[in-house]
Amino acid sequence: PPGSVPPWLQGTLVRNGPGLFSVGNSEYNHWFDGLSLIHSFTFHNGEVTYRSKYLKSETYKSNTKADRIVVSEFGTMVYPDPCKNIFARTMTHFRNIVPNFTDNNLINIIRYGQDYYASSEVNYINQIDPLTLETVGRANYRNHIALNLATAHPHYDKDGNTFNMGTAIIGLGRPKYIIFKVPANASDKDPKKPALRKVQQICSVPFRSALYPSYFHSFGMTENYIVFVEQSFKLDIVKLATAYFRGVNWGSCLKFDEKDSSAVDLREEVLE
Ligand SMILES: [Fe+2]
Repeated sequence: PPGSVPPWLQGTLVRNGPGLFSVGNSEYNHWFDGLSLIHSFTFHNGEVTYRSKYLKSETYKSNTKADRIVVSEFGTMVYPDPCKNIFARTMTHFRNIVPNFTDNNLINIIRYGQDYYASSEVNYINQIDPLTLETVGRANYRNHIALNLATAHPHYDKDGNTFNMGTAIIGLGRPKYIIFKVPANASDKDPKKPALRKVQQICSVPFRSALYPSYFHSFGMTENYIVFVEQSFKLDIVKLATAYFRGVNWGSCLKFDEKDSSAVDLREEVLE
């Protein structure tokens, strides 16, 4: 009957999303910025139990300790140390062209091996315990595979292997899209050894234009193919590298390129 949970439905559904939009007197500007809240719905014998916990990311801990927002998000750029002059900020940022992103992983929960991670689209993911929702610890893709960004929406094959796609922007060889796999059996009993250390790069595809990789939120997968659309909504790497000292947020570094409409160019570039 309507309004009841069927008794055959058993297990736990884990989701995340933005949950907290202000810290102390400071507020976020965008829906994508809120501090990550992990939710679970556990179905057992016709009943459902809900629980939630904030992701204890380094971002969450830094903000809580300072009692204000000190880590920049997609739509909110902040300056943690007001004493640093603009020159110092500029130099720091040119040394690390790709900024040190937030680990406020609020987009999706992904599985690598038997490890569950709260994920966004940057190099940091945070492992969580899917039953207690406690944060186990932060993993950095860059310690295991050369990429700066990775999607929060991987695919799983029938054997439980995970396939995902990322972007290597700069300082990691020629800029390219990376397709990678984490095998189903990648987890170790030792929680200090994340499944990610078994990551395998499958292939890479060069950008159509070196300073303007396409933004992508997800991709397609069939039994034999990965399907990727290098679309005209792009990340401007020069804007990204200079956003901090220009005082604009990461979101403003994404732009639709109306002049870029030829899919034929992509074919030729890949085949060369
Ligand atoms: Fe999504």
